[in-house]
Amino acid sequence: MSTNTWFSALKKSAVAIVGAATMLSLASPAAAAQPQPDGEVGVQVIGGTRAAKGEFPWMVRLSMGCGGALYAPQIVLTAAHCVGRTGNNTSITATIGVVDLQDTTATKIRSTYVHRSPTYGTSTGGDWALIKLASPVTNVKPLKIATTKEFDTGTFDIAGWGDTREGANTGSRYLLKAKVPFVPDTTCKGIGGYYASLIPAAEICAGDLANGGIDTCQGDSGGPMFRKDNAGEWIEVGIVSHGNGCARRNAPGVYTEVSTFASAIAAAAARI
Ligand code: ARG
Repeated sequence: MSTNTWFSALKKSAVAIVGAATMLSLASPAAAAQPQPDGEVGVQVIGGTRAAKGEFPWMVRLSMGCGGALYAPQIVLTAAHCVGRTGNNTSITATIGVVDLQDTTATKIRSTYVHRSPTYGTSTGGDWALIKLASPVTNVKPLKIATTKEFDTGTFDIAGWGDTREGANTGSRYLLKAKVPFVPDTTCKGIGGYYASLIPAAEICAGDLANGGIDTCQGDSGGPMFRKDNAGEWIEVGIVSHGNGCARRNAPGVYTEVSTFASAIAAAAARI
């Protein structure tokens, strides 16, 4: 799928994200508005649960319908396919500090500038972008990014406000989280079809191949895939990028491999 297709699909869909079986038992209006997966064919549940307020303090909701993570007090790391061209941009609002998008205590800050990875869309890959904010977020410690492949393995955490089932196009009012196992490049590319075009050096796959049922989805794009490092601190290893549908069997999520682009991200962040 081309970048343009992604971007326009994104704009149309208003948002996306992770699995949220829990939503179904909630009595909120947003939960009530979610289609019930019972009886549907295919994806029954995208398995997530609600994140607690403050659990992932650096998690950012972007107004174009993407996720992101605070990389520096005044910079959000997201996906290239979530933004337009590099340059001044005051059209994006970043929401931070809440799990409920209707929580009026949210911190909302406008963008001033966008840096879109210049290698995105080339054979090098690189679905990442930086958004400069009009003012710094002072009360949140930014999310570290992986600078080596050391942590590109194991079980990862994902979070976002995206769709709770494939095709929902509604997003989630609440921040949802889930855990997904790493899928090695050879396995991922070896699935073939959609996954034959995987760029192993630039992308990292994750998902429950045998069962499906747990994944990021439309509207989660740009958000972090993360885990703990050896110091027990959260570290971002992936950026939600794409996948063949959502939460299908044998169809893992594909994430930007953050470690590959860590030095380019740091260099760009120092310039904007
Ligand atoms: N491209 C989607 C977006 O813009 C993210 C899709 C992630 N898909 C997946 N199966 N993990 O929100």
